Amino acid sequence: MNIESVREKLKTKRIGQNIIHYRSIDSTNAEAKRLFEDGDRNGVVLVADTQSGGRGRLSRTWSSPRGGLWFSVILNPEGLFAEKLPILSLLAGVSVAEALKQLFNVDVNLKWPNDIVVGNKKLGGILLESIYTGKKFSGIIMGIGLNTDLTVTDLPPLLKDAVVTLKDSLEDREISNELILAEILNIIEDDYQLLLNNKEDDILQRWKALSITIGSRVAVNLENNTRLVGEAVGVKSNGALVILTDDGSQHIIIAGDCIHLNEIE
Ligand code: BTN
Repeated sequence: MNIESVREKLKTKRIGQNIIHYRSIDSTNAEAKRLFEDGDRNGVVLVADTQSGGRGRLSRTWSSPRGGLWFSVILNPEGLFAEKLPILSLLAGVSVAEALKQLFNVDVNLKWPNDIVVGNKKLGGILLESIYTGKKFSGIIMGIGLNTDLTVTDLPPLLKDAVVTLKDSLEDREISNELILAEILNIIEDDYQLLLNNKEDDILQRWKALSITIGSRVAVNLENNTRLVGEAVGVKSNGALVILTDDGSQHIIIAGDCIHLNEIE
């Protein structure tokens, strides 16, 4: 990764003004947590060519070989409360999807809560982690992983049927991780400003337009090991998913794993 080339394309005032590049690190999210000191890390971006201990949601590992785009953004919340965290995850998804559409005209969609998909396969994911100083909510690490300039054969064989890469989708077109990173950071900065100005409706509308979850029959595995089956009918302003189950009742899901049933049936 050539950081100078990212900087040339950045239009931001804050996010990415300080980019730290690692050839290899355990996890950019873990390193961001270590770096975090309340107050003076806002907007710092950490990007790694490879991660040896990449982390996914729900304590999964995240395979991060060379060629992919693995990075984290540190955000100090300035007026942003812990309750707005789920929408930040949707914001990240919208920014990534719109950047990829703009750059490559590729048909990227979003799957609740935070999967970036092409067709029904996973192109990338987002891991948001919050930092508390004592009991005080003091910052957010927004981790983004994208299978960009690599092919499915570079990833573990077990993932073969579930994942897709940009390189495989675009065949011969050249892929620049520098350009993709800069474009995503440009959009994240604008969208984060929208959120700070309480314009979450704008983010939600764009998320709904990109979502393949709304209108789908889904099963959600909840954290207490129960499973809810029904139609995903909407998303709340805090980013929670609304499910209508067959008995006609509505459920609001803050966190969970969402399976699209129409894909398997
Ligand atoms: C998911 O499970 O879908 C979220 C995956 C998030 C992966 C990214 S890669 C950069 C950052 N560092 C990590 O260890 N994880 C995130």
